[in-house]
Amino acid sequence: MCGIIAYTGSREAVPVLLAGLRDLEYRGYDSTGVAILDDAGGELTVVKRRGKISELDAAISSQSISSAHTGLGHTRWATHGVPSDENAHPHASCGGEVVVVHNGIVENYGELRKELTDRGHIFGSETDTETIAHLIEENLKLGHDLVTSLREASGQLVGSQAIVALSEAEPGVVVGARLGNAGGIVVGYGEGEMLLSSDLAALLPHTSKVAFLDDGQIVRISANGATFATRDGRPAKVNPSTILLDATTADKGTYETYMLKEIMEQPVALADTIGGLMTVEPARLYLDDLGDVRPWLERVERVLLVGMGTSLHAAMVGRWYFEQIARLPADIDNASEFRYREPVLGPETLVVSVSQSGETVDVLEAMNVARACGSPQITICNTPGSQSTRLADGTVHTYAGLERGVASTKTFTTSLAALFALALETAQVRGRISEQEFASHIQGLVAMPEIVGRQLDAFDVVAKAAERFSTTEHILFLGRGPALPIALEGALKMKELSYVHAEGYAAGEMKHGPIALIDQNFPTIALAGQHALRSKIISNIEQIRARKGEVLAIVTEGDEELIALADAALTVPSVPALLEPVAAIVPLQILAYATAKTRGCNIDQPRNLAKTVTVE
Ligand code: G6P
Repeated sequence: MCGIIAYTGSREAVPVLLAGLRDLEYRGYDSTGVAILDDAGGELTVVKRRGKISELDAAISSQSISSAHTGLGHTRWATHGVPSDENAHPHASCGGEVVVVHNGIVENYGELRKELTDRGHIFGSETDTETIAHLIEENLKLGHDLVTSLREASGQLVGSQAIVALSEAEPGVVVGARLGNAGGIVVGYGEGEMLLSSDLAALLPHTSKVAFLDDGQIVRISANGATFATRDGRPAKVNPSTILLDATTADKGTYETYMLKEIMEQPVALADTIGGLMTVEPARLYLDDLGDVRPWLERVERVLLVGMGTSLHAAMVGRWYFEQIARLPADIDNASEFRYREPVLGPETLVVSVSQSGETVDVLEAMNVARACGSPQITICNTPGSQSTRLADGTVHTYAGLERGVASTKTFTTSLAALFALALETAQVRGRISEQEFASHIQGLVAMPEIVGRQLDAFDVVAKAAERFSTTEHILFLGRGPALPIALEGALKMKELSYVHAEGYAAGEMKHGPIALIDQNFPTIALAGQHALRSKIISNIEQIRARKGEVLAIVTEGDEELIALADAALTVPSVPALLEPVAAIVPLQILAYATAKTRGCNIDQPRNLAKTVTVE
């Protein structure tokens, strides 16, 4: 949460910072701000506003800000202190010589604030972040340089954070620190310019040469390059790498929202992911980044899949893949629960984390727990170089391209493809699959981009069906088997985008409570594809209709019996059982999108949400 961008180099800083903030708005949109460091006098100017970047833009235009070639910017998702001009970042020290932007939580900020106040510091905001600016200032006054001051200040902070700071004492210099897993810092190398950001996305328009900070590392950039140090002050070697991701594909283009564009991109994202991981003739997998973890696929006795949000739902489908294809016992866990449970596992358990960003704090901490237990780990990730790819022993990359919509869509379907490929690889390594079965699974997966494309051709039909939900306040989503995670994901999409209260439930559980809610005002969306224990779902639909509940069924094309039974139906092409989730989620994405649109919701920036959750 919270987006950070910093620049120093030959160009004017403000336009670069504002463009970066626009690329980072999905990180938080409560307030935004910039600070620039005047070249001549080395004076800092801060402009910050509650609300969206347009507010900041207007504030900057109305002031005559001197041209500067060094600065930083921040887009905030509020933790400590309401969204307001005062609480917006950057935060300055009392004398204004230091400014700080921050991602994460200073857990001991109450204590630090009291100590600093006792020492005469005056606070201008309610935030935890401001303590960092005052601590850095104290260290600068002791005669330390900015890097040392940041390091000393960092030593006093409890909790995970990413910090970026500027000081009047060092014109042309920006420093940053990554402390724990509350968000990354990526360093961008340009021609005569350097950048720092919380996200790769904000750097890619400027450079593809980047370096990622590890936990405890501190970086100092000037126009000429970067130097790195460890938490205890020793120089660190951090090698930049080249990231081949096209930033232009992340533009909205002619679409009205990123989410719509990303829904429509799914056939290409799936084709790129599948093409990056396998060939059909010969039927072969190329999971090139499994590294040393590959032999463990044969040795392990079980798989545990972890994730959060949409990625957790992908993990839930993945459990089916490991059990059905590799016949390996598989469990799933919410990463935020797993990390605090002192889980019982060791080298016999393969831990598979799913995270499109690779920076979700609970997933990273769960991975640290798994590492401490000695479990081999693989991550399914869409962001090259992200922290999860560096923590895991091996990675299966998805090639969905940058995803900007806060609600994940294309990274969900591509994660399913990657999980399917990993389960197939596991089955092959363990000798649990015949060549014929293997080839048939691959053929099934390779057909999915076209199937999803056909689903999208029916966009208008699905959007029309969504009209019914524009006035409802509650919806029940029911599914069984591999369709249960799809029911959960459909409900998540509906609630996060349209603010309609939506519950996802195992259809078999319906009679144990949810059915009490059913009446003519409480519609149900039932996942009733051909593989979802069809006869049982038919009974569930009958039971709902007997109580005057309205049912929209997602059924397999040509299933006239179910089409006749439900009040309304949307169809999904007939595909192999385990791949039905990839097709069945598409109408649910469109339903949520269209409902949110009719209800006038902000689709790319749903209230209170942020794309990457880096605080607990
Ligand atoms: C947030 C986003 C979701 C995403 C989840 C996990 O809640 O709004 O769309 O599924 O984080 O993110 P990850 O990057 O770990 O997949």
